[in-house]
Amino acid sequence: KKAIEIGILGLGTVGNGIIHILEHHKNELIAKTGAEDVTIRKVLVRDLEKQRGGNVEKEMMTTNAEDVLDDPNIDLVIEVMGGIDEAKQYIEKALKSGKHVVSANKDLIALHGDELLTLAEENDAELLYEASVAGGIPILRTLTEGLASDRITKMIGIVNGTTNYMLTKMTKEELSYDEALQQAKDLGFAESDPTADLEGLDAARKMVILARLGFSASVQLDEVYLKGMTEVTAEDIDFGQQLGYTLKLIGLASRSDEGIEVSVEPVFIPEDHPLASVNDEYNAVYVYGEAVGETMFYGPGAGSLPTATAVVSDVVSVIRQIRLGTAAAPMNAANKEDTVLKKEE
Ligand code: NDP
Ligand code: HSE
Repeated sequence: KKAIEIGILGLGTVGNGIIHILEHHKNELIAKTGAEDVTIRKVLVRDLEKQRGGNVEKEMMTTNAEDVLDDPNIDLVIEVMGGIDEAKQYIEKALKSGKHVVSANKDLIALHGDELLTLAEENDAELLYEASVAGGIPILRTLTEGLASDRITKMIGIVNGTTNYMLTKMTKEELSYDEALQQAKDLGFAESDPTADLEGLDAARKMVILARLGFSASVQLDEVYLKGMTEVTAEDIDFGQQLGYTLKLIGLASRSDEGIEVSVEPVFIPEDHPLASVNDEYNAVYVYGEAVGETMFYGPGAGSLPTATAVVSDVVSVIRQIRLGTAAAPMNAANKEDTVLKKEE
């Protein structure tokens, strides 16, 4: 098939970024995929009356998911609506009818990723989710392709943009917790309900996805030691600064002969450590591989266009696959033998 038609579930912060990139980088996408055209056919929203920026005509929007999922002309469905149950149901339906799916939904992938990837495989469809971890940093592709030959033993990440933005503003501009949170919401970094950001659950979901792909292991969310930043105060930050430390919400995934450990918690790190200078909504992931040694990946971890870049890069991969019949690198865990160790409180 030469012209590719896309259905999008959700037109919020990320959905609007996707529309922007598909429109403004159309020639790039056509050149890079060999497709004759790449067009959006239908967009699912909750509220047709909502005022929206961007260039989506009203006739293209629907509140009925079937208009996207049952449309035989749609080759590829992008899920950027968020949430778990409905999104899962829609993705399952899309995959069962042979449509490829790209999602930014870490909540869903961390919980049901294995099941959905199996379903995709059974239906000869792709399910890619690069945007689910660290926004614009292509870290999943790095683990599954760039570092595929190595044995990764450790990953340390600042993987939540909202909390890193808040900690930066509280440290450098002395904003209060609530003021910093409000700014992160206004800028589109926070989830619609920011509880998961603040309690560290969003970072834990991302660390689970990283650990699965980096270690090719089965790691579950309830195996992560988790402490968020809800109890962090301006006094804690001040105290650390006086001693030359910066407070960051750090995700750690490591493996040894004993097994795998995954944690998320606020950590004081020395001011001259590279992770201490990762500010605002930026993310960074340090990856240690036995052969490559130390590597670090840095970039915007949240926000409309950076996240949309990752989504549309997955779209490019899928279109190449449709055009050339080559499978994208599998984004699933193959080896289920490592033990996951539970860190005690
Ligand atoms: P928003 O809340 O900004 O947008 C969600 C969109 O989905 C809205 O257009 C909403 O419709 C639509 N929607 C939600 N539920 C339904 C439903 N039941 N039926 C129909 N439409 C629905 O979210 P974001 O764009 O910020 O995030 C989308 C996804 O991307 C989430 O999974 C999030 O975790 C993930 N993500 C977000 C990042 C970010 O920086 N924001 C970064 C990385 C991933 P309506 O507009 O009518 O309300
Ligand atoms: N709420 C998330 C964050 C969005 O702040 O990192 C990106 O996944």
